[in-house]
Amino acid sequence: LRREQEVGKNGNERRHNMPDNQTNTKQNIQDKLLPYIQDAYAMENQIAETLEKQIDQTKDFPNVQAKIRQHFEQTKQHRARMENCLKAYGKDPSTIKDLGSSLMGNVAGAMAGIRPDKLSRIARDDYVTEHLEIAAYTLLITTARIFNDQQTIQAAEANMRDEVEMQRWLIEHMPEACILTFQKEGLTIPQDVQNLAQNPDPIFNAVNLNVGYTGGASTQM
Ligand SMILES: [Fe+2]
Repeated sequence: LRREQEVGKNGNERRHNMPDNQTNTKQNIQDKLLPYIQDAYAMENQIAETLEKQIDQTKDFPNVQAKIRQHFEQTKQHRARMENCLKAYGKDPSTIKDLGSSLMGNVAGAMAGIRPDKLSRIARDDYVTEHLEIAAYTLLITTARIFNDQQTIQAAEANMRDEVEMQRWLIEHMPEACILTFQKEGLTIPQDVQNLAQNPDPIFNAVNLNVGYTGGASTQM
């Protein structure tokens, strides 16, 4: 009965499991969904460049280098997934590559202070970047759900899974990055501080920070 009333009121039938016509128009997809996919593509493109440089910058720390190389490979996959989402709407990603520079430039600008070649700074910047990505994918997934774009939902979820794993690894290894940076500069590190490299829990527990730490930094730097 209720359905009949709606049909009568609108003069056409409404589909209840899909976004209605007013949401899922070509113009709305163009104006509201595509910018989030384009931002994600540009972001991944910029991060791939940064990570490629960091592979060289971390050559003195083979375990960090291996992790960054792994995330570089993942990031190229993330970019390809976003590219495929754009292509599904007939969009050519090559026209939007510059967007990422300004986005990431803002982050870099906020990060002045420590020289860029230091391991501690690389770890800090990458941790910030992962959270930028997590926020971007949360917005994208929510928007794609509004438009019921299953390909984009699944692609963004797959990407975000890697970002969550990477941010967790980074914060678990942040004390170790700090210690290794100072050791390389010749500082003597007290034993109790050195222990934080293997188990950073005292730092996180003191401030009630739940980083999803699972006990013992899983791989050494
Ligand atoms: Fe990514």
